[in-house]
Amino acid sequence: MKIGILTSGGDCPGLNAVIRGAVLKGTTTYDIEFVGIRDGWRGVVDGDFFPLSRHEVKGLAKTGGTILGTSRTNPYEGPRGGAENISKTLFGHRIDGIIAIGGEGTLAAADRLHKDGIPVLGVPKTIDNDLRATDYSFGFDTAVNIATDAMDRLRTTGDSHQRCMVAEVMGRHVGWIALHSGIAAGAHVICIPEKPMSIEEVCQQVSKAHDRGRAPLVVVSEGFTLTGQAEAYSDKGLDAFNRPRLGGIGEVLAPEIERITGIETRATVLGHIQRGGSPSAFDRVLATRLGLHAADAVHDGAWGQMVSLKGTDIVRVPFADALGELNTVPLYRYDEAAALFG
Ligand code: F6P
Repeated sequence: MKIGILTSGGDCPGLNAVIRGAVLKGTTTYDIEFVGIRDGWRGVVDGDFFPLSRHEVKGLAKTGGTILGTSRTNPYEGPRGGAENISKTLFGHRIDGIIAIGGEGTLAAADRLHKDGIPVLGVPKTIDNDLRATDYSFGFDTAVNIATDAMDRLRTTGDSHQRCMVAEVMGRHVGWIALHSGIAAGAHVICIPEKPMSIEEVCQQVSKAHDRGRAPLVVVSEGFTLTGQAEAYSDKGLDAFNRPRLGGIGEVLAPEIERITGIETRATVLGHIQRGGSPSAFDRVLATRLGLHAADAVHDGAWGQMVSLKGTDIVRVPFADALGELNTVPLYRYDEAAALFG
């Protein structure tokens, strides 16, 4: 059996560990032959494949990025796209199925291709941790660690100057990175997309912390909206999926906080630093296990499903379970953190 592996959408620490896990288990236990697919669905459409042996994946668990490259290509677009063309391309290269590692957009495409008769199985990936049907996705823990480390640093310089520090983290639709890094770093207020707040509410917590002699730390997700704001802040145009490119709400909040509270305030946007570099040990283990189980799922012919984390077990769920609704931060989790504000 010959299987193609691809990584698609935004990259994320741990992608290489999944590839390694799948190739090691697949070759040694099931005698599966693997090919790497370059740049996500773009490589499927263009037939851009290369042999992926045990040798190519050695030492990969600790490395960031993806050795396969990635793109936000839609496999149904372009003259060579669509299920019929892709089916011919795969047949021409004797490829029997695809392991697609990606987030919501990738899994939606995988679901559609599977329904159109192409054997695809999925591995969930997102630093935002916004996918349903998996308790955690790899990359999230690494992002939280990077953000926490950055906030620890912001707090020491904030303390020296008695400034309010605003740290903006990723999180397009959900506030998991902000919530976890904010709790870990001892933030005085955490602003997430699920819970719009007014600037006055934010400033109240900032002033409370300042009055206690603390240098306030405000953590904000890129997708946060102030009460009454219809859409998340964006001044960078659209991405390949025509979604607004986010980032910059921290820079909007900082001067407002300074104006209202009178406390000197600085903003730092962490951006893609959260997606780069080596995966944490937790993410290496999770990603490796997902890769191992993806090889098992290929062997069992479990197409149309994705491997996912439930508690401490890796299970299989239909694509449909992962799509549609997002894994948002529940109110009770926000309320837990809110008890620490101010
Ligand atoms: O979906 C993950 C994510 O990191 C979001 O948090 C962020 O809005 C987006 O990707 C950034 O994408 P790009 O790398 O295309 O700028």
